[in-house]
Amino acid sequence: MESVALHHRSIRRFKPIAVDYQALEAVAQATSSSEFLQSFTMIRITAPTLRAKIAKISGSAVLAQPNGELFIFVIDTSRDIHLTDPASDCHNYTNWNAFLAGAFDATLAAQNVLACAERSGLGGVMLGSILNDPQQMIDLLHLPRYTFPLLGLIVGVPAEDPQRKPRLPQALVVSENTYPAFDAEAMAHYDQAVSDYYANRASGARQESFTSLVQQHLTADQHHRDEIGAILKAQGFNLPQA
Ligand SMILES: Cc1cc2nc3c(=O)[nH]c(=O)nc-3n(C[C@H](O)[C@H](O)[C@H](O)COP(=O)(O)O)c2cc1C
Repeated sequence: MESVALHHRSIRRFKPIAVDYQALEAVAQATSSSEFLQSFTMIRITAPTLRAKIAKISGSAVLAQPNGELFIFVIDTSRDIHLTDPASDCHNYTNWNAFLAGAFDATLAAQNVLACAERSGLGGVMLGSILNDPQQMIDLLHLPRYTFPLLGLIVGVPAEDPQRKPRLPQALVVSENTYPAFDAEAMAHYDQAVSDYYANRASGARQESFTSLVQQHLTADQHHRDEIGAILKAQGFNLPQA
């Protein structure tokens, strides 16, 4: 098995060295695609003022520094609709299935780019924080109807060497034939491992366990993310609740 994939860490500080962004763009396009519709668009951000505005939305320190290539991965069924008869019912390009296909394609492309970058000695981090203000992202990138900005990714030459974050015990996540039983003892051990990680990490040491993280998430301010349903509707997606 390939060991690079097992040593993944998110990288948030980069050296001022150019990366081969065209190779990464080609990798994104080579990714598996749901129903071969290729329902995503990848936008490379090069304009400093635009990057600064995205940095403000994201609030992430990684965008406060100028290095690394920033890509935005967009769910996109607008191309498909453009290619069909304007009089036809475009339900199959606006429904949950189409939306999920776009989410699969955009996410897999982003992960393929990150994995390829890591294999090449680069590093990076996904930026879900662009969803702190999806409407502003739509306006900034001039996204048409039937698109949605799902995920950012910044990739560059690492200027840091962070520790790996411990993952959940395999027995809680990986199973055979049926859903795994919740193992409280394994979780307690994992909480300790996460506490040790946060207490000892080189930057930003703090007191935290996995359970405390999950509990804090309940009260995180997500008011912009709660607007996602209405924004998707305004973008033309038809995603009714059951
Ligand atoms: C969909 C997604 C969105 C993410 N968004 C952010 C983000 O906005 N800012 C950030 O610093 N890290 C972000 N991350 C990185 C996670 O925080 C990171 O993967 C997680 O803490 C595990 O750490 P590791 O990647 O170093 O193993 C995101 C990861 C994923 C998969």
